Amino acid sequence: NYYAVIMAGGVGSRFWPVSTPEFPKQFHDMLGSGETLIQKTFSRLSQLIPKENILVLTHEKYNDIVMEQLPSVSQEQIILEPAMRNTAPCILYASMKIQKMNPNALMVVAPSDHWIEDEMQFVANLQRAFDVCERENILMTLGILPTYPNTGFGYIEFDKLDSRQVKEVVQFREKPDYVTARKFIQSRHFLWNSGIFVWSVRAILEAFTKFQPSMIAQFNSGIETYNTKGEQDFINTFYPEVDSISIDYAVMEKAKNVFVLPATFDWNDLGTWGSLYDKLPKDGDDNAIVNAKVFSENATNNIIRTEPGKTVVVDGLDDYIIVDRKDVLLIYPKKKEQDIKVVSQRVVDEQ
Ligand code: GDD
Ligand code: MG
Repeated sequence: NYYAVIMAGGVGSRFWPVSTPEFPKQFHDMLGSGETLIQKTFSRLSQLIPKENILVLTHEKYNDIVMEQLPSVSQEQIILEPAMRNTAPCILYASMKIQKMNPNALMVVAPSDHWIEDEMQFVANLQRAFDVCERENILMTLGILPTYPNTGFGYIEFDKLDSRQVKEVVQFREKPDYVTARKFIQSRHFLWNSGIFVWSVRAILEAFTKFQPSMIAQFNSGIETYNTKGEQDFINTFYPEVDSISIDYAVMEKAKNVFVLPATFDWNDLGTWGSLYDKLPKDGDDNAIVNAKVFSENATNNIIRTEPGKTVVVDGLDDYIIVDRKDVLLIYPKKKEQDIKVVSQRVVDEQ
């Protein structure tokens, strides 16, 4: 009864110029491990979930990349979105397809671009979440012990501090402002939302019916085509007009039956160059180097990444991102890493 949905339709624009709209970060080997992030995600999930029950949802333009990177996934398992409408439509669509295959299914929804080292703990946590969701009509998220007021995450409030057990969520707040995030961290009653969700198809479809009735009506109107030849044509007719909204705003903030399982694995969302820097090995001056051969003097705390075989000479630079890819060279202060999203857009627009 176990199914997985890998969400792989994001653009990862803060990892420009490595991550681009043509080839986003989930399809790159960001860690230099020999595997891309989506390959790592797939192999992690397939330890508990039958390979044929793992669906990959992505924009249609990434179909060939997914086929190439995940050769054990069949074309029927790659679900193509004709437009990027964020995660709520993607999850609803996948849930309805799964329900048609197996009304008693339990599913995990996972991002394709995270770093998780301890796969044993990951699998153990997932198993536990499945066990609870099999018995209860709840929406489960895996929670992470927060370390600083990151405003790019969802925050989960719970009432009991002590245990590592499953707890009921008091409130779910997606991407609070900095002052609120700091308050949350100080209260010590919040976890970060890892973005990994577990539930029964029954529970999630009930939640969509309650909180997104018009979205579910759109997807329902051609339900007879699901898992048949006519499906793609039906989806293509309306998908570009569906509300573009994330599952966090569309359902998680509104639902009352949200529970959290505090994760016992290390987790990093690899959202920015700085978060990748934290995970990479460093040289004696705390520089993290990927692929490049670096000659450095007075250079500290930088992340330097090039294509293989490139030599970089650097002197007198602290806390910078230096990334060389094809026809783009980025030299940018790590402190301003959040701005790379906007900067990259401007560059692409002007080219
Ligand atoms: N198929 C598909 N279609 N996938 C998508 C789409 C889409 O339109 N948009 C995003 N994704 C994928 C991304 O590739 C990523 O793997 C995942 O869905 C999550 O999307 P993000 O855009 O990375 O979300 P976020 O980082 O802003 O926030 C989410 O993750 C945080 C943890 O990393 C939220 O769930 C937060 O609450 C959470 O803390
Ligand atoms: Mg993310």
